[in-house]
Amino acid sequence: MNYFLGIDIGTSGAKLLLIDENGGKFASETIEYPLSTPQPLWAEQHPKLWWDAVTAGIRALIQRTGVASGDIAGIGLSGQMHGSVFVDDQNNVLRPAILWCDQRTSAQCDWLTSAIGQENLVKYIGNPVLTGFTSPKIVWLRDNEPDVYAKVAKVLLPKDYIRFKLTGTFATEVSDASGTALFDVANRTWSKEVLAAADIPVSWMPECFESTVVSSHVSAEGAASTLLQPGTPVVGGGGDQAAGAVGCGVVETGIVSSTIGTSGVVFAFSDQPATDPKLRIHTFCHAVPGKWHVMGVQLSAGGSLRWLRDTLFPGVEYSDLTKGAASVPSGSEGLIFLPYLAGERTPHPDPYARGAYFGLTLRHTAEHFVRSTLEGVSYGLRDQFEIFHDLGVEIRQVRASGGGAKSPLWSQINADITGYEHVTLSVDEGPALGAALLAAVGVGKFATVADACAAAVHVTGSTEPKPENVSEYNKYYPIFRSLYPALKPQFDAVSKLS
Ligand code: XUL
Repeated sequence: MNYFLGIDIGTSGAKLLLIDENGGKFASETIEYPLSTPQPLWAEQHPKLWWDAVTAGIRALIQRTGVASGDIAGIGLSGQMHGSVFVDDQNNVLRPAILWCDQRTSAQCDWLTSAIGQENLVKYIGNPVLTGFTSPKIVWLRDNEPDVYAKVAKVLLPKDYIRFKLTGTFATEVSDASGTALFDVANRTWSKEVLAAADIPVSWMPECFESTVVSSHVSAEGAASTLLQPGTPVVGGGGDQAAGAVGCGVVETGIVSSTIGTSGVVFAFSDQPATDPKLRIHTFCHAVPGKWHVMGVQLSAGGSLRWLRDTLFPGVEYSDLTKGAASVPSGSEGLIFLPYLAGERTPHPDPYARGAYFGLTLRHTAEHFVRSTLEGVSYGLRDQFEIFHDLGVEIRQVRASGGGAKSPLWSQINADITGYEHVTLSVDEGPALGAALLAAVGVGKFATVADACAAAVHVTGSTEPKPENVSEYNKYYPIFRSLYPALKPQFDAVSKLS
């Protein structure tokens, strides 16, 4: 039996997943690591944490399952997108990586946007420059840590640092490269124009492959650290959203995923590099060769519930936390939560947006807080569906995934607030599964990504919107929509103070 290994470098931990040659889950390991916030709006992780987790996880997986490393026929990499790993010419990491949820780069986004011009950005990269993306982080380093900047020889995305440690090769692939704001998404290559305007040497960017192409092979050093076999092929893989979409079978037009992890992402397959003229959603290359996707990203989705649990209900299981919320009526009797705890990206690209509970009365209980938190996140997801609707993106089926899909209450709220039936899947292994399937395609086990998904991913159930709840939420949604514009001046003012 052959096996394929998917590695996902997440924000809270690394997940290592072995699938068999039919696409079925064989075994997995998750090793957690911390996130550091040295200053307000900052989010960093040292790449050493990722590599230590990957080496410990692969060793544990091989030792626990007894799988012969020679039977692991391919490896796929996935990980949190947009993070910047700065490496010098001796291959040393120069500082902790600046992550996707870091919001320090407003000034650099403004500089890049005026240096390149908004129209040219649309022409060259099909996307705006946003605070979470990679290019403003490089400019931030230039502006704030010139000594470190002077030593940079390569800029890598999180999963591509792991590729370097495993194989000794600097490489990336099209889906993750799309999130750097330095990549010509339509033509699937680095944008020489944007790199030149930002004064970033092309040589800093790794060679870019399609996601299913073998980029390199495990080196002797990589093998010694992990127990893997030297020479094992490593495919391009994908950014966590594209790989996660493969892991949900979002590989044809009309199939959309709605994922509640730390972030909340609505993701649709696209045959074309269709750009939103208002640049509200991202247009990136898909991990399916020659295809694209559009997606919106809410920064604190499951992260909002985790924050509520950790601060007000420490130690309570999520299932117990949401139990009481089920008895609160739809709309939480007028308590509305704005989920902008880490600023926001879609539909309000605003690092200074803040969270809020609006409409409190003496009647509201702890259960109302929980329910309104779930609802606020779901209203934010509806914002993304509304943009897809405006753009004419076809939606035939919505696939629920991520931790949020495990809660029947949240799935019902999502269906009721968006008005779309949400189907559940036979698998919930996320980006690690997508990465493993991309490896299986890359070494020829499956002819196409769609074939791999057809073998591995099946629809198992569905949650239908309930008409009475839909009509209740349709009354609250316009109020939710009106709160961000009304509060924006106050968010800006308070951000100047703290
Ligand atoms: C996608 C994004 C996040 C991160 C972390 O654009 O910023 O989803 O990839 O998961």
